[in-house]
Amino acid sequence: MTVPLKPESPAVQAKIYRLYRDYFDKAEKKRRWSLKDDIPWDQCNPSLDPAIADVVQTFCAVELYLPDYVSKLLPQVRANRGRAWMLANWGYEESKHSMALGDWLLRSRMRTDEQMADIESEVFQQEWDLPHDNARAMMCYTMVQELATWLHYHNLQKIIRQRGGDPALDKVLTLIAIDERAHYDFFRKLVQLYLDDDRSGTLEQLRRVINGFAMPAVHLLLDGKKRIEAVKSLRIFDYDIFYTEVFEPIVTALKVKKAELRRHSPREYVSVGSVPS
Ligand SMILES: [Fe+2]
Ligand SMILES: [Fe+2]
Repeated sequence: MTVPLKPESPAVQAKIYRLYRDYFDKAEKKRRWSLKDDIPWDQCNPSLDPAIADVVQTFCAVELYLPDYVSKLLPQVRANRGRAWMLANWGYEESKHSMALGDWLLRSRMRTDEQMADIESEVFQQEWDLPHDNARAMMCYTMVQELATWLHYHNLQKIIRQRGGDPALDKVLTLIAIDERAHYDFFRKLVQLYLDDDRSGTLEQLRRVINGFAMPAVHLLLDGKKRIEAVKSLRIFDYDIFYTEVFEPIVTALKVKKAELRRHSPREYVSVGSVPS
């Protein structure tokens, strides 16, 4: 049975807006970066393993679904200023990620202009839909997805460093990873705020999200399966990494018990991110 969600009171909405303003002030002061000036574009490594470029293309494609993410998430929270303004700002920051990755694919000559145009048109042949039907669950989903995304970039960066490096891509990944970590941090604080206000309703949505978690949009790509396998084979992200580096840190940070997040029956959800019962 679904636990009913308690609507946000004006006091909770005011706290969320304050959380956003703190996030925004810090971002303006410490985290703005320039695609044009902050990346050593003349230092791409021409002999980098093409398998790396393949993974970068995958991440770029996932970031390219931004119009679907923003256009579907924003209507859920349009009357909640802190959350709506956050999504607008989040959209701006995310928009730079696909541009930076796409620019690296071009400047490193790993992809041509024609190939980049094909990637873009392929992305928009399929539409991304919300994996959950309510704003509370999508907030939990975004928290999990942001930490998982940070890990994808962080682990890719480690692999590149082991394989000869690429100063341009290294800087791109550093800047993107800092953004993703800040996104996770904001959404974690937001989930905490909702847990404090409506523990049972929020926990129920978090439980659903954790047990059904999958990264957004990769499966929509024509060769999605192959791309997921490439990410797994380089040990950038798999179930074990999800469990120890996403699920467990989130459980610790939110001070919830693993048992509270177990699915109610083995058949309740089918997913790669399920928490073992
Ligand atoms: Fe991103
Ligand atoms: Fe992000």
